[in-house]
Amino acid sequence: MNALRKCIVVSGLACCFVVSSLAAEAPAVKNPASTPKSVVLARGKYLVTIGGCHDCHTPKLIAEKGPVLDTKRLLSGFPSTEMVPTVPGGVIGPKAWGGLFTNDLTGWAGPWGVSLASNITPDKETGIGTWRKETFIKTLRTGKTPGGRPILPPMPWESIAQMRDEDLKDMFTYLMSLPPIRNMVPAPIPPK
Ligand code: HEC
Repeated sequence: MNALRKCIVVSGLACCFVVSSLAAEAPAVKNPASTPKSVVLARGKYLVTIGGCHDCHTPKLIAEKGPVLDTKRLLSGFPSTEMVPTVPGGVIGPKAWGGLFTNDLTGWAGPWGVSLASNITPDKETGIGTWRKETFIKTLRTGKTPGGRPILPPMPWESIAQMRDEDLKDMFTYLMSLPPIRNMVPAPIPPK
């Protein structure tokens, strides 16, 4: 190996080292216990918003141009006052459609049966008000409810599971700051 090549190899390694040491540090979000609550709540709100949780978990009002979030019922899940529409036979299948959803996107039907978006407000009886941060993180990381039932599609838990602990914690803190809404979401219906 001549001197020039050696130099390139060495500087290449040095460059790699610098890049990788930067990369290892970049994603670490420092969120110590001293972070003001308002900052944690703002981050949690931001993550819930860009995480798309409202798309499925918030009932909608049907406005002129389509569904809009019902801000009085944020994240309270499929409204228990609504009928779960029946799924016509033959509509869903390998050579037909993959699924159906209600007008407000809180109810879904697919090969897994019918799933209804959960109430994720802090209501203690019908929502997740008795959960701890650890329960929330474990549920989203394992895709299993605290009772051990696998969470059905289209809940995108596999991608939410990739979020960092700090992010999941901030989302949970924000969810717990919302008004608790009493709404007992019906159990999922297995496929026929
Ligand atoms: C595409 C629709 C969809 C999106 C987007 C979505 N969810 Fe869900 N989620 C559901 C459905 C449907 C269920 C109920 C599944 C079941 O009954 O097995 C659910 C269940 C859950 C549960 C389990 C609740 C319980 O009581 O066991 C949690 C927690 C949850 N979602 C949190 C979130 C959070 C946080 C976000 C945003 C980061 C989110 N979801 C985004 C559809 C969705």
